[in-house]
Amino acid sequence: MLQTKQKVLRSFYYPVMPIADLQDGPKPFKIMGENIVLWLDEEQKPAAAIDRCCHRTAKLSKGELRNGCIVCPYHGWSFNRDGKCTWFPQSELEDPPKVYKIQGYHCEERYGYVWVALAAPITELPKFRYSDNPEFRKVDEFYEVIHCAGLRLMENSFDVAHVNFVHKNTFGDVDNPKPPKVTITSNDWGFEAYMEIPVHNKLNQEVKALNMDADRTVRKQVSEWFMPFIRQTNITYPTGLIHSIVTCTTPIDDDTCQLVQFVYRNDREEDVPATSIIAFDRKVVDEDMEVLETTETNVSLDITKKLENHMLSDHPGILMRKMLLALLEKHGEQEVY
Ligand code: FES
Ligand SMILES: [Fe+2]
Repeated sequence: MLQTKQKVLRSFYYPVMPIADLQDGPKPFKIMGENIVLWLDEEQKPAAAIDRCCHRTAKLSKGELRNGCIVCPYHGWSFNRDGKCTWFPQSELEDPPKVYKIQGYHCEERYGYVWVALAAPITELPKFRYSDNPEFRKVDEFYEVIHCAGLRLMENSFDVAHVNFVHKNTFGDVDNPKPPKVTITSNDWGFEAYMEIPVHNKLNQEVKALNMDADRTVRKQVSEWFMPFIRQTNITYPTGLIHSIVTCTTPIDDDTCQLVQFVYRNDREEDVPATSIIAFDRKVVDEDMEVLETTETNVSLDITKKLENHMLSDHPGILMRKMLLALLEKHGEQEVY
């Protein structure tokens, strides 16, 4: 599936940038192949618009701000968060003609990030478990470009069969490669997959992030999928520690995505410093990327030829794909390869 070609995927919110990155002025970003500009308006709320002036096509992200509007660096035309031209310095007119406008996009702040939807959103921003629970702290982990399709990375997040191979040096058990049983409950905009995974605790010997010394442990895991490119995996260890990972794979284009990852934990900085948590998940993410960045972007899970079904009858990736195809059909779209 070529994500940038599927119109309905423009109607979801995606996290694009830490809000703090806009404090020193407008910034460019590319989402689903579209160049956009992000800035903070007069109320310090994030705004997003096409990164192309409607006059002589200059890049607005090279401009500056004036009264919460983005000012084009070329001739100074200014645009508000709706894309309306609010200042037109070459004219005596107080109110610039309505045709002087650029495309504005839906833009919100949540969880410390700027979220953008390119078309009218058909669902709300995800509500993450533990996000408003005072017993949990949030640790921002990764904000980086990954050379892999967002959908591929999302599929991998629910691919229980890869764990014992890709992660054999950290928590996978290559001598016992049969995937765990998965119980899936679907909802309107995704699903929850529950599994119990016996794992090695090797990585914790190296990076003390779990605060437990046993050689092996068990992860009780509820992985939630928020259609199309967001996952929250809630891992509970026998000690009661909850390590809840939010992974977003915002599509930059069809071959590249922006990884946005943060975790919620029910322990304190004195128990495990944030640097150890980040170092632990860094290793895991690097193991995944070493394989994922070698895959072909546009090869989806094969649900028609049953290539995947032999792996596990209740493979969450198969449900993910079926739900995405149903979404396209509902919106009158064909899958684009
Ligand atoms: S190109 Fe933007 S004001 Fe002229
Ligand atoms: Fe993995």
